[in-house]
Amino acid sequence: MYLNSEEQQTEMTHTPSSDMCEVGLSEVSEMMDLLHIDVETDVVEDRPGRGDALCSKNVLRKQRHWERQLAAKKSKRKEEKQRRKLNREHESGASADNPQLSKRVLKAITRERLAEAQSTGLKLCVDLSMTDCMSDKEISRLAGQLRRLYGSNKKATRPFHLFLTDLKEDSRLYRECIRMNEGFLNYTMDITEESCLDLFPPETVVYLTPDAEEALETVDADKVYVLGGLVDESIQKKLSFSRARELGVRTARLPIDEYMTKNNNAKNFHSKILAVNQVFDILLTLCETGSWTETLQAWFPRGKGYVVAPDDSLPPSTQT
Ligand SMILES: C[S@@+](CC[C@H](N)C(=O)[O-])C[C@H]1O[C@@H](n2cnc3c(N)ncnc32)[C@H](O)[C@@H]1O
Repeated sequence: MYLNSEEQQTEMTHTPSSDMCEVGLSEVSEMMDLLHIDVETDVVEDRPGRGDALCSKNVLRKQRHWERQLAAKKSKRKEEKQRRKLNREHESGASADNPQLSKRVLKAITRERLAEAQSTGLKLCVDLSMTDCMSDKEISRLAGQLRRLYGSNKKATRPFHLFLTDLKEDSRLYRECIRMNEGFLNYTMDITEESCLDLFPPETVVYLTPDAEEALETVDADKVYVLGGLVDESIQKKLSFSRARELGVRTARLPIDEYMTKNNNAKNFHSKILAVNQVFDILLTLCETGSWTETLQAWFPRGKGYVVAPDDSLPPSTQT
């Protein structure tokens, strides 16, 4: 005989796919047991065709070995797939409550939100009327900041309706925006040669400038906010403030004095002037959170030498 029954049982538990063959062998073995025939010692020894039996035993062993290897590989592949899925979910922040969305769906959501913002969103203009006083390098940096500003708006849950005003088609900035910012002319925003006052009544306009007296408190739906499209590496003081005066509109600054204190630093450097895209990120977050403390904590650049003041050191009107 070829296998004793113990050997058969062990093998069977490991290789379900060879059941047909195993059942046959097992039945024969049981019959042998009933007939009290010692299959290992007596019968097999002198039987003709023993070579065939050994051969088929080896074939079976090899087959089982191969099947086991295949099953192990299959389960390893499954584990690997599961691990990659978890990694992807972890990176994208997806979970059971927040299922992962395909790139196509995310793009469609962004498009829809931006389109919706064009009719119902809060309005914000970037005033690009002052680019003549900027160097080529500053123009390039401003083009990059406009790309980042648009990128932040695309990611926002409640994007703004954006306007690039006073952007002349024959200007250096226009050419640089097209050169540096892929798809610039297809951005979901209004790009116009007109000024903000050609588009909106002056009483609705609030010009944000670091030199304003008044601190900005809230962002309101019935107002239009204007940022000065300026990069001034060699600081040109009060440029946007003068522009707002010229337009005869209200001005406001970020409430840095109200919510922040100076931070000691090696260079004793303190600046309240941010880049136009940084101010925009602050406005977006303020609209989402309604909290200046939270917003400035998240977005005010560390290198500017200011930190958010602890709650109890703030004037009562600003405490959260
Ligand atoms: C780099 S800043 C320009 C600074 C320039 N010296 C000026 O005259 O405004 C670009 C724009 O960001 C906005 N901005 C920057 N810091 C601000 C602050 N602390 N408060 C309000 N607006 C600010 C203003 O609209 C400003 O025109």
